[in-house]
Amino acid sequence: MKIYYAPLEGITGYIFRNAYNEIYGHIGKYFSPFISPAEKCPVTPRERKDVDPANNHGINLVPQILTCSSDRFIEAAKELHAMGYTEVNLNLGCPSGTVCAKGKGAGFLQDTSALQAFLDDIYSYAVSGDMKISVKTRLGYSDPDEFYALLDIFNAFPVSELIIHPRIRSDFYKGEPRKEYFAYALEHSKCPLVYNGNIFSVKDYDELSDRFAGGLDPVMLGRGLIIDPSLADKLNGLTTETDFIKLRRLHDTLYHEYQKIMSPDINVLFKMRELWSYWQNLFDGKDREIKRLLKAKKYADYEDIVYHLLLTGTD
Ligand SMILES: Cc1cc2nc3c(=O)[nH]c(=O)nc-3n(C[C@H](O)[C@H](O)[C@H](O)COP(=O)(O)O)c2cc1C
Repeated sequence: MKIYYAPLEGITGYIFRNAYNEIYGHIGKYFSPFISPAEKCPVTPRERKDVDPANNHGINLVPQILTCSSDRFIEAAKELHAMGYTEVNLNLGCPSGTVCAKGKGAGFLQDTSALQAFLDDIYSYAVSGDMKISVKTRLGYSDPDEFYALLDIFNAFPVSELIIHPRIRSDFYKGEPRKEYFAYALEHSKCPLVYNGNIFSVKDYDELSDRFAGGLDPVMLGRGLIIDPSLADKLNGLTTETDFIKLRRLHDTLYHEYQKIMSPDINVLFKMRELWSYWQNLFDGKDREIKRLLKAKKYADYEDIVYHLLLTGTD
């Protein structure tokens, strides 16, 4: 089964991808958190560092672009092509208020004629520039029925893969994904489809996969792979248990790598706390320790709690 690692801004940067890929692997494609091209600066030095092939050895990475300007999209795609990339991904799903207010991300789904003109431009470039463009989209901005017209639009272009997160903008990441719209896409899409949303366990995957003829392959996972980094191994039938030794390796690698590039200490702890807000789901009955850990302001306090937790697992 092909598993794609969803882009998670602030989490799945190159340090995370390298650590995950080294310790777990078995990921068909990683998608970078979005690059937001500005005028005269299609890819900032920070974004460039994140997608630089030298920082992504052995990782099948697809850089993602967030913009509603076809000129800016094409400029960024050209820079990425010069770096060796042959696929980029268009973000049509970001629900953030500031992003949508500028007509980008999920906000772009509101203006279908502008979207159509934008796709015309970027797919003309894709054909002449030898670049595949995949799309990651929501069902619509304010009403899931917007999806019917949107799918007709996508069907008119050589979308290399259409990744569908079956929610609308106002759902953010909450509630049940609207799976019936993915079923509609399976029947009516001319583009290869990838499902994304709320797969947190093998059971979640199996239930969903049984529901759709032909199963779900490839599939894109985000938070499920952060909460339980062994989930890809479980889905691939390599294990049935969460591997706490690998989790400790992942933790230690990230903790040390972030210390090399971040300061002061509290910023590293903020980064680790964000991960623990996901990992805490693996530690039943350890609420008190997790609460202390999420408040730790010094490395020593943090390490005391974390190493006790990671040594004892859930016992
Ligand atoms: C913290 C966070 C950051 C995200 N950043 C991005 C992003 O940069 N680009 C994008 O397309 N989606 C982004 N997403 C959405 C995820 O890629 C994914 O679509 C979403 O989490 C649903 O999948 P999941 O239920 O498997 O997590 C983000 C989601 C979260 C929670």
